[in-house]
Amino acid sequence: MADQKNVLVEIRNLCVNYETRLGAVSAVDDVSFDIYRGEIIGLVGESGCGKSTFGKALMRMITPPGEIVNGHIFFDGEDVMTFSEERLRDFRGRQISMIFQDPMTSLNPVQRVDQHLVEAIKVHEPKTATEQAMERIRELIERLGIQKRRLTDYPHHLSGGMRQRVMVGLGLVLNASLIIADEATTSLDVIVEANLVDQLREIRDEFGITILLITHNIALVAEIADRVAVMYAGRISEIGSVENVFHEPLHPYTRGLMKSVPSIRIDDEEELYKMPGEPPNLTHPPKGCRFHPRCPDVMPICGRIEPTLEEAAPGRLVHCWLFQDHPEKEAEAVKVQP
Ligand SMILES: Nc1ncnc2c1ncn2[C@@H]1O[C@H](COP(=O)(O)OP(=O)(O)O)[C@@H](O)[C@H]1O
Ligand SMILES: [Mg+2]
Repeated sequence: MADQKNVLVEIRNLCVNYETRLGAVSAVDDVSFDIYRGEIIGLVGESGCGKSTFGKALMRMITPPGEIVNGHIFFDGEDVMTFSEERLRDFRGRQISMIFQDPMTSLNPVQRVDQHLVEAIKVHEPKTATEQAMERIRELIERLGIQKRRLTDYPHHLSGGMRQRVMVGLGLVLNASLIIADEATTSLDVIVEANLVDQLREIRDEFGITILLITHNIALVAEIADRVAVMYAGRISEIGSVENVFHEPLHPYTRGLMKSVPSIRIDDEEELYKMPGEPPNLTHPPKGCRFHPRCPDVMPICGRIEPTLEEAAPGRLVHCWLFQDHPEKEAEAVKVQP
């Protein structure tokens, strides 16, 4: 497994806002964690919690009304926040690549598969001859399980699963070190999704690539990821190995989230847990811990002071007062004694 010496991306105090008529939406707030080289890390959380915003911020792809208002992203040791437009164009594609739910939005409908891939190579490596590029593409496409004859197809001739593999191919053909898959399997049917997921894992093993898997599908993360980061209302509530976080969730939000996932055993008697309340409005997020209004374990300190993301057990970071000390917390504990 990856260890601390193997950090590919260091995210520090990242904040992203969207300016709206009703005020600034704080979509990613003070997020700090590391992504290890060669891991598959899942980013999960309810819709609207800031997952896509986070993924786009890693590529510096936030556009107005959005803005990265604070923080640093160190990729392979380089601060992405200092990159020029030219450096960013090279960075996107050659070092980091993103696949979305609907690949048709990223593929050009009048360009054949081979043209997409050749262009990707030529943009980043202008000296490569077309025939050389084609050779690389033919080799790669077979490893992705796409027949060579498909190279002359247009995107709309391909199935959804195949289009996603072409998107993966666009990252691999340039040896990107990180692929961000944002709900990339969500629109596929279950079998195709399972195939793509297996393939992502094989690709990681074969190419040693790092994958950030953004999804609301917790079962998917349980199946393929090494670690998982749980996001709530723009903040990271918990990070740890999939095994730990799924079997023994520590943060009250993660505990609720796990209870709300259907178990693999089909049990008619079992009623799924529904977390009380709604995610907060991110223009006016609750003070202190953003989860406190919905938290079953809320303490007085939670509504006043924000906890930090701290190590609660080896390799497990939790953003919750239940696992951290504070002078005010002690004082309150004394007060509530009978
Ligand atoms: N272009 C935008 N303008 C204003 N608010 C936005 C914009 N894009 C996203 N948001 C808001 O930012 C928050 C996070 O959104 P998003 O990153 O898409 O969440 P997720 O991917 O987890 O569903 C949401 O509250 C969403 O409404
Ligand atoms: Mg999203």
